[in-house]
Formats: sequence, C-alpha cells, structure tokens
Amino acid sequence: DTKPSDPEGEEESLSPPTPPKREAWLGASSLSQFQGCWLSEDFSKSAALVQAHFQPRPDDIILATYPKCGTTWLKALAFAITNRSHHPITCKNHPLLTHLPHDLVEDLEFPLRYLHHPVSELENLPSPRLLCTHLPLPLLPTSVSTIGCRIVYLCREPKDVLVSMWHYMNKVYRDCFTEFDRAFELFCEGVSLYGPIWDHYLGYWKQMTTEPNRVLFLKYDEMMADTGNHVKRLAEFFGGPVSVEEESSGIVQDIVKLCSFENLKKMPVSCSGVTNPIDGLAIENSVFFRTGKVRDWENHMTEEMAKKLDRIIEDKLGGCGLTF
Ligand code: A3P
Repeated sequence: DTKPSDPEGEEESLSPPTPPKREAWLGASSLSQFQGCWLSEDFSKSAALVQAHFQPRPDDIILATYPKCGTTWLKALAFAITNRSHHPITCKNHPLLTHLPHDLVEDLEFPLRYLHHPVSELENLPSPRLLCTHLPLPLLPTSVSTIGCRIVYLCREPKDVLVSMWHYMNKVYRDCFTEFDRAFELFCEGVSLYGPIWDHYLGYWKQMTTEPNRVLFLKYDEMMADTGNHVKRLAEFFGGPVSVEEESSGIVQDIVKLCSFENLKKMPVSCSGVTNPIDGLAIENSVFFRTGKVRDWENHMTEEMAKKLDRIIEDKLGGCGLTF
C-alpha cells in the first residue's frame, strides 16, 4: 500500500466526517453519535475500550438496561438471587444492607474503568461473572452473541424513563439545568444518553426473539406488578431455580422485600453515601432512588406530549411485538 502524496487539503477530505454533535443533558458536555448511539466523549472512549478489551465468557450473565429503567433494582435482585447460598437473604450482614447495588455488580463501560480500573480487571473476576451494561447490543463485542452469554434486559415505559432521566440529569448536573420541554424534544428526536431509546430496546428485543433461551426480556412495570414471579423467573434463568424447600421457607418474599425500593432507599448507604462512577463527578447515592412508581409521567406531561411520544415509540418499534 502506498500512500499518495498529499496535495493540499487531501488529508482533510479523506478523513471521516466529524459526527454531528448535539447538546446533552449532561452539563457542559455534548453528545455525539458513536456507531449509531448518542454518547458523550468519555462514554464513547469507554465503549471503544469495552469493544477492544472485554473478553466475554460463555457463562457470563449480563444485565443490560437503558439508563433509568431500573438498573439499580435489577442489580440488587440479581446479586441477591445468585449469591443466596453464601449470603442468606435474611442474614444481618447481607451485603445489600451496607452496599449500593452498583457497588456489588461490575459495570462494563463506565469511564471510571478506563481512567482507574481497566476493562482487563474484569478478567480477575471468578466465573460465572455477573456484569452490567447500558451499551446497546450492537456495541458489545460480537462474541457476546456467538459465545452464548446470557443476557437479562430490563426496559421501561419510555415516558417514565424520560421523566426519571430528566430528574436524574438535573440532580447530577445541577449547574446546567435543562427544562423539561427541551428534554422532551430531544428525547423525541432520539437524542439522549445511550439513545435512541427505541434502537436500544429493539436490539435486545430482536435478539430475544431469535434466542429466547439466552435473552430474558423484562419490563419494569410488570416486575413492579409481580416481583415475586420475576424473582423465580430470574433464578431459573440464572440456572438455580427456587427449590420447593426455599419457596416454603419464604425466600421469594424475603428477596422481594430486601430489594424493594422502600428498603433500599432507606439504607444508610443510599441516604448519605456518595459514589464516583464518572471521573471527577461525585454523585449522591440518593439520586438512584426517587419515587420508584409507574406512570409518574402523568405528573410531568400534557396529554398532547404523551400522545406524541407514544406515536413515535409505536412507529419506531414498527410492530415488532414490544408494546407499553
Ligand atoms: P424514578 O426516577 O421513576 O423513581 P436506574 O436504576 O436504571 O438508574 O433507574 C432508576 C429508577 O429506578 C428510578 O425511577 C428509581 O427510583 C427506580 N428504582 C431504584 N431502585 C428501585 C427499586 N428497588 N425498585 C423499584 N424501582 C427502583
């Protein structure tokens, strides 16, 4: 391969076009498209590192969510269920009584990882690993699909996601307040961290339809309506179904209670702790627990706004079978 001489300006015209930037609901930073997904610069770097260095194992369990769909809750449930033999649910020193669920399940891609905690450190975790990601499926290494890792995907009513995200972003980046109407417009255009939300949902949904044994696709509202049944489904999916003896001892209800919004919200670590998943940005743990309710969008959107977002979501999901 020979590189042609570089007449003036040619180098520039050969370089890939700069991806369009959009204002973020992320303080001063902006969002750019990274392989079709809206990410801030730090998050793009982190995603690229995951693609380059994360080595999936066949027995990995990956918890995947779009942000604000109940990641904290899913992490708590998955941790409690998979560790129940050596951390009995009702024991006085259960890790969930003193740790934020985010500190008990490793994230694949947070910027913290490449600044202080390289992706390669995931190699030190014993199998089977319980991992978590907000990355859309196409941005994960392809071997995640071919090697047979199991994925639990949790989605949520998009209007409730928007409301939850708006509150969260304005609390975390409190110096740069975004009006709800502006956040709504951007969300409708698909511009939100890890968005568009419909592409995120669709990627995992399609994978679930082709490989139902490998992808468990859950909805926040349904999990709220019958958490006990979801505990059993998760346990079975993880390969350790709740036994008859466990069920009669009340373990399902104990897990539901331990991981409930009310219980986790009142833990000292949730009330007063501070976490630092994004370099230089201290986040109060309390921001992960707001109302924990379904249909809070009714307190934030007009009927017209709700209808508009519903139409967009319906249109984008294109009759795939996923409805809210
Ligand atoms: P709201 O802002 O609607 O209250 P994530 O964990 O993905 O960041 O999602 C945060 C949302 O999940 C917030 O929703 C939060 O209150 C809710 N949440 C946190 N812990 C929960 C739990 N144990 N059960 C139910 N919802 C929970």
